[in-house]
Amino acid sequence: MKYTFPLAAVIALVLIAWLGSSIPGMQYLFGIVIPYLAIATFIIGFCYRVVQWAKSPVPFRIPTTCGQGYSLPWIKHNKLEAPTNTSQVVARMFLEIVLFRSLWRHTKAEIHDGPKLTYESSKWIWLFAIIFHYSFLVIVLRHMRLFLEPVPWLIQAIEFGDGILQIGSPGMYMTDATIILGLVFLFGRRLITRHMRYLSLANDYFPLFLIFGIAVTGILMRFYFRTDVDIVAIKRLAVGLATFQPIIQAEINSLFYIHLFLVSVLLAYFPYSKLMHMGGVFLSPTRNLANDSRMRRHINPWNPDIKPHSYAGYEDEFREFMVENDIPVEKELPPKAE
Ligand code: HEM
Repeated sequence: MKYTFPLAAVIALVLIAWLGSSIPGMQYLFGIVIPYLAIATFIIGFCYRVVQWAKSPVPFRIPTTCGQGYSLPWIKHNKLEAPTNTSQVVARMFLEIVLFRSLWRHTKAEIHDGPKLTYESSKWIWLFAIIFHYSFLVIVLRHMRLFLEPVPWLIQAIEFGDGILQIGSPGMYMTDATIILGLVFLFGRRLITRHMRYLSLANDYFPLFLIFGIAVTGILMRFYFRTDVDIVAIKRLAVGLATFQPIIQAEINSLFYIHLFLVSVLLAYFPYSKLMHMGGVFLSPTRNLANDSRMRRHINPWNPDIKPHSYAGYEDEFREFMVENDIPVEKELPPKAE
């Protein structure tokens, strides 16, 4: 059961934060020290990995192409699938990052009687990946209201748009429902599809459970324990964390400490996990290079500097000895002076 261990780990994290934060004096640890350590680990780890990738040599052009490359004038060039210059690469990257374009091409392979292998287009993973990632982004942006005073108009506008359905009181955010929907699908896909279950590892389940835990504790705070949660003290703490003058001025419900602790674990875990695809997608040479191998000569920068030595040069150097040893030469020795 590759998902029981990550599930148990997330439950253990919840218990640690719950019990830990109810010990007098420990709020300082869970509210200030751990979040700071987590954010430092995140920033240092993220930068380290990006720098390591940026330093890795990429001597050849290895973009994945899936369209007609630039060739003869009367053959239509597919600029997005086989980009030949930087602006075309930027357009391709932009669509990949904003719309997950390569995932759109996802296919499902099946073996039928015969045996016959079939591939059919499958857009579900694309749809739920988009739903999940955009919900996450909007939630994180909305959270900026806790850290910024005054709250910028853009954050207020996002908050207004997200709550526009005005369901319930406090108003339900659409992204709260959609992030759960996305997570349930992404988890279900690993669980239900046989080959996905086989391929999935604890490291695939852990972030799903962890983010699920963060979303559920957040939703509980907002909708079910709102009166217990001292939002003024939380705002004071959040602004304090952002301005390096943190202060816990009132007792805050454990639910908040659980939420914050799970977020801290996510941040600290991020640089060492597959979640680094967030940074990696920008540095992926199969995507960020132009397909111009037949237009430009790319020379491997660390090739040893080999001086060419032609046969003519070789013979010039050794002609005398060659003649002496009866080895045929192309150019005769100059006649000896009498
Ligand atoms: C990965 C980062 C985070 C995620 C995904 C996340 C997720 C959520 C979600 C889904 C909610 C439900 C209500 C809403 O959508 O606003 C929520 C509420 C909340 N979160 Fe977070 N959260 C994150 C980080 C944080 C941090 C760092 C803090 C505080 C320092 C925080 C404090 C709160 C509070 C106080 C609420 C209740 C808001 C209210 O009652 O209006 N969250 N969170």
